[in-house]
Amino acid sequence: MKYDFDKIIDRNNTNALKRDGWREYIFGDPEGKLTFKFADDEFIHMWVADMEFECADVIVNALKKRVDHGIFGYTTIYNDDYPNAFAAWCKKRYDWEFDKANICYSPGIIPALYELVGDICAEDEKVLFQTPSYGFFKHASTYNGREMVFNKMKFEDGKWDLDFDALAEQCADPKTKLLVWCNPHNPTGRVWTEEELKKVAEIVKANDMYIISDEIHCDMQREGVAHIPMGKIMGDYPKLVTSMSASKCFNMAGLQLSNIIINDPEIRQKFKDGDKLVGFLNPLSIAAMQAAYEEGEEWLTQMDLYVDENFRYVKSFLGENLPEIKFEIPDATYLAWVNFGAVLPEGTDVNEFFANEAGVLIEGGDALFVDNAEGFVRLNLAMPKSQIEIAMGRMLDAINKAGGRK
Ligand SMILES: Cc1ncc(COP(=O)(O)O)c(C=O)c1O
Repeated sequence: MKYDFDKIIDRNNTNALKRDGWREYIFGDPEGKLTFKFADDEFIHMWVADMEFECADVIVNALKKRVDHGIFGYTTIYNDDYPNAFAAWCKKRYDWEFDKANICYSPGIIPALYELVGDICAEDEKVLFQTPSYGFFKHASTYNGREMVFNKMKFEDGKWDLDFDALAEQCADPKTKLLVWCNPHNPTGRVWTEEELKKVAEIVKANDMYIISDEIHCDMQREGVAHIPMGKIMGDYPKLVTSMSASKCFNMAGLQLSNIIINDPEIRQKFKDGDKLVGFLNPLSIAAMQAAYEEGEEWLTQMDLYVDENFRYVKSFLGENLPEIKFEIPDATYLAWVNFGAVLPEGTDVNEFFANEAGVLIEGGDALFVDNAEGFVRLNLAMPKSQIEIAMGRMLDAINKAGGRK
C-alpha cells in the first residue's frame, strides 16, 4: 500500500466535532456536566461519519497550491474545471451523465436538504423516508415544520430490505409530496439494486412525487458492489434531485462543498434564491474537491481495501464472540450497523452504556437515528485497525459484565 492507514493521528486542538463535540452531540450536554468513567483521552471515537485517516496527498497538495496563491477573495464556480471534473468522475465510475446546467452548489448536503424540504413541500405536505434513518432527514423536516412518514425497513437474517407494499401505500397519500431517498443507505449500508431502484422510481412517478436522492456515500463500496445513481434510472425526470459530494469518502466534511443536481428549473431557482450564502463558495474547497475527482481514485481504492479488512475483522470477532448478533458486512459505507440489542439487557441505552462501560463513543438507537433503530449501534470503521481491536475487546468485556440479554 502506498498510503499508511495504520497511522494514529492526534486530532486534539483541531476543533474536531469528533474529539470535542461528542458531549453535546451524543448526550445533549454542551457544558460537560455529565461525568464518565473514562478520561477524555481514553475514549475511542467510533461515532460521527468522518475518518481518522489523513486525506489523499493529491488533495493536500492541491490545497497547498491554492494557499500559495495567497488571495482568497469572494469566489464561486465560474469556469468549467470543477463541474467537468465531477461529471467525468460520474461518467467513469457510474457511467452516468447529467446536464451540468442543473448543478447547484451548497456547503453541504444537509444545508441543501433544509432548504429543499421547504422549497418542495407546502406546509400541509409530508416528507417520507426509510427508517432507520440518518438523523438529519428528520431534523430538516422538523426545521421546516413538515410532517414525516416513516417507511420502516425490514431486518431479517442480518440483512435490511425495503417494504415496497408499505411504500406504495404511503406514496398514494396525495399529501406525501417528497421521498428523501438514501443510497447507499445510512445507517444500514445497503446499496439498492437496479431492480429495487426501478420499483421505487415507478412508485414515485406514479404518484407524481419529488425525490431527493442523497448519494453522499456513493464513492465507497465493498469489492464487487456497484453504485447506481437514481439519475441513471429516472433520467431527466423533472422532480428528481441528486446530492453528491467528495466530502464523505475523501474525508473532507470540514471543507464543505457539495453538488446538488436539481432537474426542475422552478425548484432550482427557488433553491438559488434561498441560498443564504448568495452563491459564494470557499476557494480552498473547490481546489480540494476538484483534486479528489481528478487525481484521488488511487487513494480511494486503497482506503476502501483497508476498510474492507476492518469489516472482515469485525465480522469474524463478532462471529466468534457474540454469534447472537448475526452481523453481515454491508454493501457500502465505512459504517457497521450492529444489533448489540441482541446481547444486552432490554432497554439498555447503548450510547451511554458503551461510553461508560467500554470507553467507546458510538451512535445508536432511536435517540440518534430515526425510528426502527432500537438496540442498533453504528460503528465507524474508517480508522486504524489497532484502535478497532482495542474497542471491540472493551465492548465485549462490557457486554459480558452486563450479563447478556435477559
Ligand atoms: C446520508 C447522509 N447525508 C448527508 C450527510 C452529511 O452531508 P453534509 O456534510 O454534506 O452536510 C451525511 C453524513 O454523514 C450522511 O450520512
